[in-house]
Amino acid sequence: MKCSHISFSFKFFVVFIILFGNITPQVFAQLPKETAIQKTQRLQWWTDARFGMFIHWGLYSLPARHEWVRNFERITNEEYQKYFDIFNPDLYNPREWAKMCKQAGMKYAIITTKHHEGFCLFDSKYTDYKSTNTPYGKDIVKEWVDAFRAEGLKIGFYYSLIDWHHPDFTIDKNHPLRQNSDSAYVRVNKGRDMAKYRTYLKNQVRELLSNYGEISILWLDFSYPGKNGKGHDDWDSENLLKMVRQLQPNIIVNNRLDLENVEGGDDFVTPEQFKVANWPEKDGKKLAWETCQTFSGSWGYNRDENTWKNTSQLLELLIETVSKGGNLLLNVGPTGRGAFDIRAQDRLNAMGEWMKFNSRSIYGCTQAPSGFLAPANTLLTYNPTLNRLYIHLLTYPLERLVLKGMADKIKYVQFLHDASEVKFAKPHWSGFTDSEKGDLVLELPVIKPAVEIPVLEVFLK
Ligand code: GLC
Repeated sequence: MKCSHISFSFKFFVVFIILFGNITPQVFAQLPKETAIQKTQRLQWWTDARFGMFIHWGLYSLPARHEWVRNFERITNEEYQKYFDIFNPDLYNPREWAKMCKQAGMKYAIITTKHHEGFCLFDSKYTDYKSTNTPYGKDIVKEWVDAFRAEGLKIGFYYSLIDWHHPDFTIDKNHPLRQNSDSAYVRVNKGRDMAKYRTYLKNQVRELLSNYGEISILWLDFSYPGKNGKGHDDWDSENLLKMVRQLQPNIIVNNRLDLENVEGGDDFVTPEQFKVANWPEKDGKKLAWETCQTFSGSWGYNRDENTWKNTSQLLELLIETVSKGGNLLLNVGPTGRGAFDIRAQDRLNAMGEWMKFNSRSIYGCTQAPSGFLAPANTLLTYNPTLNRLYIHLLTYPLERLVLKGMADKIKYVQFLHDASEVKFAKPHWSGFTDSEKGDLVLELPVIKPAVEIPVLEVFLK
């Protein structure tokens, strides 16, 4: 009786290991523990900053038709070599980039140290496929870090987990040399060894986090688990992340290591190229989030792409993001000569012009507390420290704006850009008005101020 009981538990144990053994590393990953408050504090500079620059730069700026050009056109290493052989961005002046970034109102910047094509913009001792071996001859990342730091901007690195150039990176469904059948995959992957690639990847991330001073953000990209895909086992994500946290304890890491179920497996979520419906949550808790967006669709420089967002769309994107408690990471894809596309410069300038007078509704701001209703065609943000509400007028209203239920909540209202008072009154009866007792009616000038999106700053009681 006793004996059969033991063997039953043993069988149960064996079945448990078979079923769940493969997730054991996730469950027991030893990532540093921190409380929710500690995490909030660690991320504070970043959640206050709200606005950063993404920079996608690599050999793909030369074909100038998308950073996935190797994938789209199934280009082999040999065919792609011609870009490496002529890469020489003679106009590269990271100090100018840093000034444009800062002038736009951005507080941090993240550069692709290596994208999926495998080309390294830094002087890695683990590869020859790097900027120092092109005609340009220098460590681009080093120059970039120095210039951006000098402008007081926080530094972030993007590093592609994927590598279409490395001989040990197995060919999968996203690879330029992707196949049509299982047997073909077996054939083309003969001799490729992901264990060696994992070591390479870890070595390079160690270099990046050891040789360039304090790195505030790490953006690892990306996982696509499943058949002919790659996930946490392929990257050895848990151990990689442990090393990252050891090397740079304050670093903020994105969520593309395929560690969704591991505590501490990421710091923020990354909705890409779309507007979220609501502040993203998990198990009822609000998550830190950053949406990454392009001006025109591609991340790398794409000469013939004509789907560029205009300034007011971009500003609305920024405001809307903050109104839901998130950050905006807006991308620039420099040209093969190392300059920002004139269309990007125009938009950065215009956003900077708006930020110069209105950034108080962005920095340190977040979603308005529940109970504050946004009037039609407006977006609200809120600064908890100042206890001020910001009403962004996407469409300029005709002379009056009704704030529902706000009669007893407001001390003072002004336009943010020029601190000019906006008078307000309690509604008076006139038969067919849109206001009622308890509302407040703002009296606006007929003419829209010369500001792309005017902002009302509301001092709350
Ligand atoms: C995707 C794309 C990549 C881009 C990234 C930015 O993962 O593969 O080209 O770098 O998104 O979020």
